[in-house]
Amino acid sequence: MKTITYSITTLKKEDDDLIKQAAHLLYTCFQYNWPEAWPSDEAARVEVETCVKSKDRFVRIAVNAQGEVLGWIGAISLYDGKVYEIHPLCVRADSRKAGIGLSLVKDLEVQVYKKGGLTLYLGTDDESEQTSLSGADLYNDTWDKIKSIKNLNDHPFSFWEKVGFKIVGVVPDANGRGKPDIMMAKSVEKLR
Ligand SMILES: CC(C)(COP(=O)(O)OP(=O)(O)OC[C@H]1O[C@@H](n2cnc3c(N)ncnc32)[C@H](O)[C@@H]1OP(=O)(O)O)[C@@H](O)C(=O)NCCC(=O)NCCS
Repeated sequence: MKTITYSITTLKKEDDDLIKQAAHLLYTCFQYNWPEAWPSDEAARVEVETCVKSKDRFVRIAVNAQGEVLGWIGAISLYDGKVYEIHPLCVRADSRKAGIGLSLVKDLEVQVYKKGGLTLYLGTDDESEQTSLSGADLYNDTWDKIKSIKNLNDHPFSFWEKVGFKIVGVVPDANGRGKPDIMMAKSVEKLR
């Protein structure tokens, strides 16, 4: 694993340069597997600004000594703060597989724990036939299909499993016929 030095802090609404960088990172990171989500820097900037300005959301960023944003993670408070949805997570392509994604998730767990949350939750879409759940009839033998899920093309659910998340369900056809959203969750109770 490569070694990259960075620190993790909260992204604030006044941090204009960091917001710009975070938006560009969001735009580039999803170009491959979900291009319609944030089709431009401007669309991504709207998302980042919503994340930092909403009182039920917060963002943590990984920044190197040169002030470059290497990755960021957002969280949305749900169920009166008992659950936080992770949305989104992205790490710069040249800085992946160096533990930054894991560190951002671990840091977020601590933040959510401090806020009194119990559960981290996320949906990870399969838009482009990256898993064996793509194209499957998820109304039949649902849990058998989930149990035997295969990663066909670098889908991030394997990353989430590695950082301790479990698949807790699916939303069939969430992104069009045969394109499910995979729901995953992790308890932060062990930090108590
Ligand atoms: C998914 C993503 C955030 C992972 O970030 P990262 O910094 O590369 O992850 P880490 O280096 O912390 O990886 C932690 C572990 O997960 C593994 N991992 C990372 N991405 C993986 C993938 N796509 N499939 C399988 N395993 C993966 C790593 O090898 C590592 O395992 P190890 O400890 O056994 O070596 C990054 O690839 C990314 O930004 N992707 C594009 C955006 C995206 O898909 N976001 C998630 C949407 S749900």
